[in-house]
Amino acid sequence: MQRWEGLIEQAESARKKAYAPYSGFCVGAALLAASGRIYTGCNVENAAFSPSVCAERTAFVKAVSEGERDFEAIAIVGGNSTETPDSVCPPCGVCRQVMAEFCDPESFVVCLKDGADIKTCLLKELLPMSFGGKESFGRNE
Ligand code: THU
Repeated sequence: MQRWEGLIEQAESARKKAYAPYSGFCVGAALLAASGRIYTGCNVENAAFSPSVCAERTAFVKAVSEGERDFEAIAIVGGNSTETPDSVCPPCGVCRQVMAEFCDPESFVVCLKDGADIKTCLLKELLPMSFGGKESFGRNE
C-alpha cells in the first residue's frame, strides 16, 4: 500500500487539529482531487452535538468550495485522542452519502489506517445501491 502512505500521513497530520472535546474521538482525513491537490479535514464538534462535522465532510466542503468536483481517493485516520489509532475508522453513513454525491463508486478509493497496515476499498463496497450520486442520478452538471 506504498501508494497511499503519503495520503495517510496527511490524514494523521490533520487529525492533530481535531476539535473533539465531547467525544474525545479525533479523526483526520486527506482527500485527493483529480487535480492532484489534497484537501485535509478534521472533525469539529459542538456543544449542541448535532452541528458537529466529521473530518471527511470538512475535507469535501473545503475542496468543493475551492472549485474541485472530481476526486480520486480519501485517507481516514481516527481513534481516541489519547492514543495513536490501532484500528480502522470507517466513514460514517452521512460521509459515505457525501462521497457518493461527488465520487465514482467504481473507482473512488477509501484508504483506512489499520495499525501498521493500510486497508483500501472502493466506494461501491462501502455504499452499495446508493441513492443519487455522480453516476446514477440525472443532473444538469
Ligand atoms: N467522526 C468523523 O469525523 N468521521 C467518521 O467517519 C466517524 C466519526 C467523528 C464525529 C465525532 O466528532 C466523533 O468522530 C465521534 O463520533
